Amino acid sequence: MKLIHTIAELRDALSQYRHPAVVPTMGNLHAGHLALVRQAKPLGDVTISTIFVNRLQFAPHEDFDTYPRTLEADCQHLEAAGCDIVFAPKESELYPQAQTFKVHPPTELADILEGHFRPGFFIGVCTVVMKLLAVTQARTALFGKKDYQQLMVIRNMVKQFALPIDVVGGETQRNEAGLALSSRNGYLTPAQREEALLLSATLRGIVQAVRSGETDLARLEHEGMQALRAAGWMPDYVAVRRQADLQTPQVGDAKVVLAAARLASTRLIDNLEI
Ligand code: PAF
Repeated sequence: MKLIHTIAELRDALSQYRHPAVVPTMGNLHAGHLALVRQAKPLGDVTISTIFVNRLQFAPHEDFDTYPRTLEADCQHLEAAGCDIVFAPKESELYPQAQTFKVHPPTELADILEGHFRPGFFIGVCTVVMKLLAVTQARTALFGKKDYQQLMVIRNMVKQFALPIDVVGGETQRNEAGLALSSRNGYLTPAQREEALLLSATLRGIVQAVRSGETDLARLEHEGMQALRAAGWMPDYVAVRRQADLQTPQVGDAKVVLAAARLASTRLIDNLEI
């Protein structure tokens, strides 16, 4: 496996390939990322993982400075998972000048849910992903479904810009108890990791209720928020939406329930398709 830090070196390394399959990440990799790398393997003739903590998608009060940077361990895991190239640029390599050209996703998709609570987040994500897809010459790009809205925003961006890239989603990986794997789980104490199970349990409860015929989605959302608050969480949203576009579902639409909530100072997100 090659570890590459510059765009020039990456272009050089890619000249012999026709179909790069790319897994963009911010590092501090867990089994969810590695599953994406294994999923990527048969989808291209070279498997690339990018590791870049993208300042553009963090608000000033968020955890950009403390976001865990574990390049050495990440590379060991990536090599074991069969990754061929790790592209880990410095900030000055990817953003040699202030990035003033930015990708602005449509408000109806990007200013709801995550985008409502993290204004500008999807501008940062789209801008860096556009750039990473360009520098890695991706023909297939894989993103985890845990970031459900992110996957949808990127799918739409790739489609609307007619990029010749297949966007592929990877299933959310969970620990035995049901906690969705996330780099931010590393911020949790052992006791909080137990408490954190309430998020997926709340989502499972809503899935069951909808499957058994409950149609009052607003009530389910409200009760989900209340259950989290009662246990000391600060929920941003618990929302049942249409899978296709994350708008309010109509009868018969395929649905997804999404939630974001803060447990002490750690903000976690999760979702389940219904
Ligand atoms: O999901 C992530 O880790 C990031 O948002 C991404 C897609 C790598 C862009 O920085």
